[in-house]
Amino acid sequence: MLADRTGVQPNRLIITGGGDDALYRACLALLQPGRDIVLPTPTFEMIGRYARLAGGRVIDVPWPHGAFPREAVLRAVRPQTAMVCVVSPNNPTGAVATADDVRALCMAVPHALILFDLAYEEYADEPLMMAALEQPNALIIRTLSKAWGLAGLRVGYAVGTERVIHWLRCAGNPFAVSGPSARIAIAWLREGCDWMAQSIATVRRERVALHHLLAELGAMPLPSQANFVLARFAAASQVASGLARLGIAVRGFPNDDPLREHLRITCPGNAADFDRLCGALRTILRSRSEEQPT
Ligand SMILES: Cc1ncc(COP(=O)(O)O)c(C=O)c1O
Repeated sequence: MLADRTGVQPNRLIITGGGDDALYRACLALLQPGRDIVLPTPTFEMIGRYARLAGGRVIDVPWPHGAFPREAVLRAVRPQTAMVCVVSPNNPTGAVATADDVRALCMAVPHALILFDLAYEEYADEPLMMAALEQPNALIIRTLSKAWGLAGLRVGYAVGTERVIHWLRCAGNPFAVSGPSARIAIAWLREGCDWMAQSIATVRRERVALHHLLAELGAMPLPSQANFVLARFAAASQVASGLARLGIAVRGFPNDDPLREHLRITCPGNAADFDRLCGALRTILRSRSEEQPT
């Protein structure tokens, strides 16, 4: 069903236990001591972990915000580079690569697999899937965990050439997705399209409103094309604990130097929770600014 929708033969697609399982399989299949992955960071932290577990060396390229650092990525590529990773929209920044980046990278690094983690693709302005599908060295990872709203189901998939997908099949267990999960996924892929379209539209509106609210309240939000906004605060941990006291969980990065004073705030995708989030942010950030000496 997913192969049909994607427009590829089923042997070019593998169903995995979430996008995570696909990422881990790709790292196990491609990396080993003496092989590198070029990884623009900050990004989804599991990618670096899986790469190291597979014995590969992680070459970080800074991508704190803004356009995808295509030139810096190309400068980091070596003969031993086995993978180049593009997470777009990126977690936790919400920054994106372009279809031009997709084509340029795949053509400039033909000896490596270019891994496109498109977990948040549905929320972005410019989809990258089609541009990536045309490239012989692209591996695309998708998931039902984000826009489809089924994170607990643990269903994702990867699309690539028949050869690379065969490697991924060999690099993990043969029954990654349970029968009940597969059945629910099939039903939701058939019936959930309208729900998803509405939810994406709501999240996009919330994302703009949240960005404006955070800026108005003195935080520094980054432009995002995902279902969250990353923002810098004067005292991120205090804002996070204030929100937690009001029953709202956000992602902090207390052990990550460049992100220490940042919080990633997810757009809930419904009016009641979004109002609650905005009210809580107003309460906490206004009372904090009143506490500051003038
Ligand atoms: C960029 C990115 N890729 C992949 C994943 C893995 O998601 P899952 O395993 O739930 O599909 C996540 C989860 O947060 C993510 O942020």
